Amino acid sequence: MMLLAVGLSFAPVMAAPATSSTLEPPVPAPSGSSRATPPGAVIASAHALSTDAGMEIIRAGGNAFDAAIAVSATLSVVEPISSGIGGGGFFLLHDARTGRDVFVDARETAPESATPAAFLDGKGELNRDRSVNGPWSAGIPGLPAALVHLAERYGRLPLKTSLAPAIRIAREGFPIYARLERGYGSRREVMERYRGTRAVFLADGTPPQVGETLRQPDLARTLELLGEKGFDGFYRGDVAKKLLASVKEEGGKWRADELAGYRVKEREPLCFKYRGWDVTTAPPPSSGGVAMAQILQILEGWDLSKLDPAQRTHLVVEAMRRAYRDRTIYLGDPDFVQVPVARLTSREYAAGLRASIHPDKALPSALLSGKPAPLEDDETTHFSIIDADGNRVSATQTVNLLYGSGLVAPGTGVLLNNEMDDFALRPGTPNAFGVMGFEANAPKAGKRMLSSMTPSFIESKDKVAAIGAPGGSRIITEVLLGILAYDDGLAPQQVAALPRIHHQWMPDVISAEAGALAPETVKALEAMGHKVNAAEQPWGNLQTVAWDKAGNTLEGGTDPRNPVGKADVMPAPSK
Ligand code: DON
Repeated sequence: MMLLAVGLSFAPVMAAPATSSTLEPPVPAPSGSSRATPPGAVIASAHALSTDAGMEIIRAGGNAFDAAIAVSATLSVVEPISSGIGGGGFFLLHDARTGRDVFVDARETAPESATPAAFLDGKGELNRDRSVNGPWSAGIPGLPAALVHLAERYGRLPLKTSLAPAIRIAREGFPIYARLERGYGSRREVMERYRGTRAVFLADGTPPQVGETLRQPDLARTLELLGEKGFDGFYRGDVAKKLLASVKEEGGKWRADELAGYRVKEREPLCFKYRGWDVTTAPPPSSGGVAMAQILQILEGWDLSKLDPAQRTHLVVEAMRRAYRDRTIYLGDPDFVQVPVARLTSREYAAGLRASIHPDKALPSALLSGKPAPLEDDETTHFSIIDADGNRVSATQTVNLLYGSGLVAPGTGVLLNNEMDDFALRPGTPNAFGVMGFEANAPKAGKRMLSSMTPSFIESKDKVAAIGAPGGSRIITEVLLGILAYDDGLAPQQVAALPRIHHQWMPDVISAEAGALAPETVKALEAMGHKVNAAEQPWGNLQTVAWDKAGNTLEGGTDPRNPVGKADVMPAPSK
């Protein structure tokens, strides 16, 4: 199966925070008191141009939500490998005016044509080509609707103002960087199947190369139409017609009413407590919040800071194993299936799972039932924003695998996602991330495929942070380790750089980045019965920002594994 590993350069925990920034207040806050509003704005995202676009909009008088539109749309332009307006995402918002947290679900939906049978080959096996390449792999996009929704409900500026930086960059172009070139190389055969894709990525006759400029005039025009006409600029009219025609030309089936009928959903975020932190995170159709609530509440039974690395890793892994097992069985779109969220996230259930953990013996995943599976890859994108009013955004958006389905609809610049692979297209058959599912996550017309995207906030008496990451099924454990690191007192840049480990029940193995576990820790874990892959390629691309309310400082952290990311802080203009 396709393993789309992306070799990102790795920096150790205490790496010099080349792209982090800290803003010290002009006058320290009086000791013991917390400030009501931050001293400026902070943005962390996976590309310097998207962070700069967000700051441009803040300078123009926008709030965090306007900035989120600018960052999101710019990422769609400069990181087509990871996300785009042909895909979807989740936006977790904190509205300082009302104090309300809201989860904007802009996940793609299944078209009616996407029956389970449509994804099987003649032998009844999963047709992998259909599930990850071309029109059948694409769900109805949600991201454009999210941008419209953010502008209408939460922003201060017109949508077209917030989209202006992305439109400019799409039209004028931006320098191609190594990850785009490498990703193209690994998806080349698929990308070059489609005439719309060739027109964008082979405009000069050769594949994208570092140092060249990628210009996307059709995408600029599509974003302009979105800015001028709002929802109808994408989901009805000329763009919609071209999307439908392209899906049809390549052998897929979407209906006009499926595009025009797309709606974002506002959901209550999932909230729970962990050691003095209020955690606000992603509800279904993400599996991330439920899994994190399970894992953190299991772990609350121990003081992790007092444990040696092997014991700590053992307990964290055992908690992960149990949460990922439940993900497989119970999680899906709550508008279509009953997800027992209250039970799965209850303290009592966590206590029961905790009691099943042996202090120094791994529980083989086979005893929790299931099948082994392949893993992983490394796209999708996250950004985090806090503004000077205390508004916050934690957003993760995606086209799923590298360059999504590979299909650009001619004349639109829109690269369609391959999110359909996140459904359990064939019960019990692992998807590209090695995670599987059953009835709860079976495809159905209008249903949203289960996600691992976990945009989150954590807040204590003294600190607020927004955090999130890409990484497929590893997103949940990336965010989880980030929260544990904040709890250990690390700063945002250290949180982003932290070496990673992961366990997802199946396959029954601890994945660890090279250097994440010391050799003696690996030995101790093996003695407890764990299988450890101790030198995997680095993964993830965590972007986090934090406001230290007590010291009144803002700080951002960007993942050093991604050399083009940027965290930046801008002081509020003095009043
Ligand atoms: O929603 C999800 O969980 C996946 N489609 C995210 C894909 C992803 O993170 C790809 N990168 N590794």
